[in-house]
Amino acid sequence: MNTERTDAQPAVTVIGLGEMGFALAGAFLEGGHPTTVWNRTSEKSGPLVAKGAERAATVRDAVAASPLVVLSVKGNATARALLESAGDALAGRSVLNLTDGTSAEARAVAEWVKGQGAEYLHGQIMTIAPGIGGPETVVFYGGSHAVFDHFHPTLQLIGGRGTLISDDAGVPTLYGMAVHGTMWGALNGFLHAAALLSSEGIAVQRFLDDAGPSVTALLGSLPVLADEVDRGEYATPYGALQHHRPSVKDLVRESEARNIDVEFPGYTLGLVDKALEDGHADDSYSRLIEHFRRQ
Ligand SMILES: NC(=O)c1ccc[n+]([C@@H]2O[C@H](COP(=O)([O-])OP(=O)(O)OC[C@H]3O[C@@H](n4cnc5c(N)ncnc54)[C@H](OP(=O)(O)O)[C@@H]3O)[C@@H](O)[C@H]2O)c1
Repeated sequence: MNTERTDAQPAVTVIGLGEMGFALAGAFLEGGHPTTVWNRTSEKSGPLVAKGAERAATVRDAVAASPLVVLSVKGNATARALLESAGDALAGRSVLNLTDGTSAEARAVAEWVKGQGAEYLHGQIMTIAPGIGGPETVVFYGGSHAVFDHFHPTLQLIGGRGTLISDDAGVPTLYGMAVHGTMWGALNGFLHAAALLSSEGIAVQRFLDDAGPSVTALLGSLPVLADEVDRGEYATPYGALQHHRPSVKDLVRESEARNIDVEFPGYTLGLVDKALEDGHADDSYSRLIEHFRRQ
């Protein structure tokens, strides 16, 4: 472990030593930062103290110990309550809240923290705990540019691909949800496909070996969709909604014939049918954004 301290290694406090907070505190210690920790269940700090961390007796002591106060707990109501318990120790600190929640919750914590005379940065970590410290680990930050710039070398210890995407503390969580929402849609589609393939006795890995390039090429269509949605223009020379319909219908029919759940492709068929009924047969698939917007 690197325990030598330099000016680039300011003291850091970590509040919350769950799976993620424990990994964060470990990364700061490993990076040579004097690290103070606090957790509701204080015994969890034992292995970190053994590596040189200071265990604070109270949240107030923990906040007072470092210019950078990092939170990683379950829910922003808890994060806010813990920060409130620090009282006037919060003034002048930089708070980095890495607690997940909605954009409104993040903004509410940000406003309250700023009202206490502290700076606020919110972070959305896009990895599981073992990925902390990885050079490719993505973290979306929103809030104080000054905190992001000042503590940049420290933030690099969380993930090598940390970017400040907005001065609005609510935006990082939206980015995270957008990635996760895309992921779950793709994962559900893939698992439905896997059920279809395995009903024929085809190993899913074998399918990926053969069809991998077709599957990964799908990502290449996202910038086209993004551009159409941003412009609100759905005209397309190829692959209009009317050409999707027969393929989606075949997927539903094939699934029914194999006694595979049809809810997922059936949902897609419903969206396409509605768009065709509304006269959008010649439009790009991106026209379906109107369904999700519930205009
Ligand atoms: N784990 C991951 O891989 C991962 C990945 C990305 C983002 N995150 C996010 O990171 C944050 C922390 O997640 P985690 O996985 O570390 O959760 P976790 O392992 O369940 O730990 C939860 C933490 O919150 C504390 N806590 C819960 N209720 C509390 C209360 N009322 N008062 C004080 N402390 C309380 C717990 O303290 P005790 O130890 O005393 O129970 C613990 O430190 C969450 O927002 C999560 O979504 C986690």
